[in-house]
Amino acid sequence: MSPLASFDAPALIATKRDGHRLPDAGIDWLIEGYTTGLVAEEQMSALLMAIYLRGMDTAETVRWTAAMIASGERMDFTDLRRGGKPLKTVDKHSTGGVGDKITLPLVAVVAACGAAVPSASGRGLGHTGGTLDKLEAIAGFDVALSTARLREQLAGVGAAIFAAGALAPADAKLYALRDVTATVESLPLIASSVMSKKLAEGTDALVLDVKVGSGAFMKERDDARELAQAMVGLGAAHGVATRALLTDMSMPLGCTVGNAIEVAEALEVLAGGGPADVVELTVRLASEMLELATIDGADPAQTLSDGSAMDRFTAMVAAQGGDLGVPLPVGKCCETVTADRGGFMGHIDAMAVALAAWRLGAGRSRPGERVQHGAGMRIHRRPGEPVAAGETLFTLYTDTPERLGPACAELNGGYCVGDTPPLPRPLIIEATA
Ligand code: URA
Repeated sequence: MSPLASFDAPALIATKRDGHRLPDAGIDWLIEGYTTGLVAEEQMSALLMAIYLRGMDTAETVRWTAAMIASGERMDFTDLRRGGKPLKTVDKHSTGGVGDKITLPLVAVVAACGAAVPSASGRGLGHTGGTLDKLEAIAGFDVALSTARLREQLAGVGAAIFAAGALAPADAKLYALRDVTATVESLPLIASSVMSKKLAEGTDALVLDVKVGSGAFMKERDDARELAQAMVGLGAAHGVATRALLTDMSMPLGCTVGNAIEVAEALEVLAGGGPADVVELTVRLASEMLELATIDGADPAQTLSDGSAMDRFTAMVAAQGGDLGVPLPVGKCCETVTADRGGFMGHIDAMAVALAAWRLGAGRSRPGERVQHGAGMRIHRRPGEPVAAGETLFTLYTDTPERLGPACAELNGGYCVGDTPPLPRPLIIEATA
């Protein structure tokens, strides 16, 4: 880092503390210095708090993101071919939700339509689920792919879901620090964190699923829209065609929340069934991805009914060492929650369900903790469906019996049964170009 060594951390912290713009070269120096250990944890903590309080303008955020990408490998798939023809690459990113298993059917649908999807994914932390934790519920599934294996799999199967690993390593360090310094909820820091990892994937196009509601990171639509616009702008600034959808996360997606139980639901969708909301979002996101990747004439919904998406999914699982012939794990202990009156199922709060699933052992409270692959819950009645008194509304699964009580307590008050069905909420709220 010698050409940049003229900066000093306290001066840069003071620049941001006093509400000024960080110089471009100073941003490069800070990110590289923090990744390599030259900039100390306490210095970066102070800077993050200054950014949290003062913000960063668009140009600063673009530079900050570029520096994060430069902290690791940026993949390049421009020479990817199948049958001698170039392959378009495209991915989607969700800002995180409850019951959000969409990546599983989605990558297979888009691959069946002729694009290649290199999907670097993460693990759950706190109340949100992680795609890697879900996939590891499949016996033998390996999320660590070398670049050579990834390229081979994309050229053959067309889809891979793998751990971000060497992509934007600055983000892994910064995210962990933000988590313990109350600096997570900063728009430029969230936007640069998400986009550094996704832009490092090197895809031609990217679709963002920005969640809004109680189970999302952004509770309000205006905040979600602002985040979506910032991320779309970062994509454009780095030459990647990017668009965003704002989608509802006030209720869980589908009828399952957990790890293995969500894989089972994704398999139902791939077999042409599954809950309507999971199918709707999968098909809509696939259409957006294919349009952005300029792949014409494909019919995402048909790949679910004709089995071609299922073929891609099973091929992807096999390529990554997974064995779908081994039954998915189910928690050894279960508890049901029943309706104490008849009527119609009302709203089901995504955060209450997420916390219940987390208490059951489906999520972790500290990075590195083991999750229970069989833990989670099934939602038997969706909002608006008729309910009879005494009927089972939820089934909770865990390997640890003492987790059942706290999980039921989290769920208590997170749903209601009423005399009339609630007004339906649109799943797809708006598209942000
Ligand atoms: N997801 C990320 O990857 N980073 C954030 O800052 C928030 C959500």
